[in-house]
Amino acid sequence: VRTPGRRVAVFGAGYIGLVTGACFAELGHQVVVRDIDPEKVALLRSGEVPIYEPGLGDMIAGNKERLSFTLDLDEALDGAEIAYVCVDTPPSASGDADLSRLWTVLRSLEGATHLKAVVVKSTVPVGTGARVRTALDQAGLAHVGYAANPEFTAEGRAVDDFMHPDRVVIGAEDDAAARLIEELHAGVDGPVVVMDVRSAEMVKLASNALLATKISFINEIATLCEKTGADVEEVARAVGLDHRLGPHFLRPGIGWGGSCFPKDSEALRQLASNTGYHLQLLSAVIEVNNLQKRRAIQKLKDELGTLAGMRVALLGLTFKPGTDDMREAPSTVLASRLLAEGAEVRCWDPMARPAAAEPWSSTSRHETPELALEGADAAIVVTEWPQIKEVDWAHAAAVMRRPVLFDGRNLLDPASMRELGFTYMGVGRP
Ligand code: UGA
Repeated sequence: VRTPGRRVAVFGAGYIGLVTGACFAELGHQVVVRDIDPEKVALLRSGEVPIYEPGLGDMIAGNKERLSFTLDLDEALDGAEIAYVCVDTPPSASGDADLSRLWTVLRSLEGATHLKAVVVKSTVPVGTGARVRTALDQAGLAHVGYAANPEFTAEGRAVDDFMHPDRVVIGAEDDAAARLIEELHAGVDGPVVVMDVRSAEMVKLASNALLATKISFINEIATLCEKTGADVEEVARAVGLDHRLGPHFLRPGIGWGGSCFPKDSEALRQLASNTGYHLQLLSAVIEVNNLQKRRAIQKLKDELGTLAGMRVALLGLTFKPGTDDMREAPSTVLASRLLAEGAEVRCWDPMARPAAAEPWSSTSRHETPELALEGADAAIVVTEWPQIKEVDWAHAAAVMRRPVLFDGRNLLDPASMRELGFTYMGVGRP
């Protein structure tokens, strides 16, 4: 038997806010999601979802009675017991996270004395909770509990990650707040770990940094495999069988991107340097990731002699498959470098909606991979969309000016591609 739901106000209708709001509604709570973007709220009210995330649309549609969207602050706070802050915390010029949206939300809570707890889900520097506490006290909300509840959901599987997490981390300053947030997650299929606020804030940054480290590590091993004749795919498979190391995040490629790893690794590095400590390992992890994209361009340059006047097809633009997200996508760096070297860039992606600005405004977009490959001197598999496997590569070899392929995700089979006449280059495989 479900306990009657809590009343939750979610601030921010981005990826995290929408998933959080929809999942809490699914768990039986009464949720109002508030955003300041009129277009976004209008879209959500009309039953559309502004982002692509599997299962999210159905979940929102299936919970209409318990989930609403508003621009209006009073409507969001009316009767709310818990305020969930899910606004974005983008990097500022200094590298520190820009918390201005967080502070704006917190200021707006002044007078909401009926709240029982304020929860920050946004990724924030360690120590932010203490500042939030002071802000709440100054806003007359000293009696309101505070908790940090970082998210570990990956795009493309956010709903599933929320409902079946490896862990729910709750950082709270008092038992009452911790219990309330734990109770809010009743029905979520995963262990709840309760700790102090600072540690919870650190768990989020440390987890993303370690995942990024695994990828940069295998990318460096891939480079060494190229120099020694080993095959990184075999190496990663066998390394991953050691249960202490695990098979995940050992896929070599063109480097990590997205809205989280680049931002969070920079934020953690900045956080450390603010304390007077230089994070050596993480700095190398970031550098290896930048190098990975430079190496991709260099490989093409070595093969073609020059990139000037060359026509290069980019297959896949999003930072990973299964999403329309272009934030910090490696494709943006590759397109910019190719254009700077004087190449012509033709693109294909089934979902990306790149900004109508540079570098994309200087590239052409094509409906199918085959069309993007027409007349190309080289192609780069940038994102491992499954459609790329289905391309008629024999046809592609015939319509390309030169059948040169850099498979930046080791998606295709080297032997079959070579049989079709391709000059095939992968990452860390012979
Ligand atoms: C990541 C984390 O996986 C989540 O746990 C975390 O909650 C989230 O960031 C966040 O902080 O919000 P996400 O950015 O959606 O999730 O994407 P991932 O699937 O982790 O991929 C990140 C990047 O690493 C992608 O560019 C991907 O292509 C790359 N990657 C991943 C590799 O190059 N190799 C791998 O083996 C795995």
